[in-house]
Amino acid sequence: MKFFVDTAEIDAIKELNDLGMVDGVTTNPSLIAKSGRDILEVTKEICELVEGPVSAEVVATEADAMIAEGRKLAKIAENIAVKVPLTWDGLKACNVLTDEGNMVNVTLCFSPNQALLAAKAGATFISPFIGRLDDLNLDGLDLIADIRQVYDNYGFETEILAASIRSANHMSECAKIGADVATAPPNVIKAMANHVLTDKGLAAFLADAEKANIKIV
Ligand code: E4P
Repeated sequence: MKFFVDTAEIDAIKELNDLGMVDGVTTNPSLIAKSGRDILEVTKEICELVEGPVSAEVVATEADAMIAEGRKLAKIAENIAVKVPLTWDGLKACNVLTDEGNMVNVTLCFSPNQALLAAKAGATFISPFIGRLDDLNLDGLDLIADIRQVYDNYGFETEILAASIRSANHMSECAKIGADVATAPPNVIKAMANHVLTDKGLAAFLADAEKANIKIV
């Protein structure tokens, strides 16, 4: 499973990228606003840091305007994936932008039917949102499993990019289901390293090392 980082914070992307943990980056208007940076500038900087796809989201709602914004975003760098919302206009924009050779990430997906439409429109990535379904007491992971089944039934090549990930558990469950990509905030990716038995075991090893005066350098 590929890891995308869900942030527009340059330092956080750098830290994970230096460790080889970053296969791509996703942003959205809320994350850009949180960074306090200009969308074109910060997106360009991210594209220069990271080799993989960098999703940059349009803010228009009508197809022609989305296409114009998508073309402008795509000019930032070769690794831009234009992000469009899963609306009828977004699907039209996806169709045109992919035909022009751009990567397109169709976002705000909450049902297998929406995912099916995005695949038919030629989407490179479909972004089903797990956490926002969980917030409504629905099961976001069920959506990932359903889309995996639908895409596998027909051999759709659109990659499932699990989004709105809130916990390390979401990451392992997505990997078990077979999501192609999971995008998560930096703190969630780091939390994947945590286990209480690792902490407990390490404390015991270090105590024994101190008692036995073990020194390596
Ligand atoms: C990424 O592509 C999505 O925009 C993001 O994962 C949404 O996450 P949120 O539901 O935590 O805002």
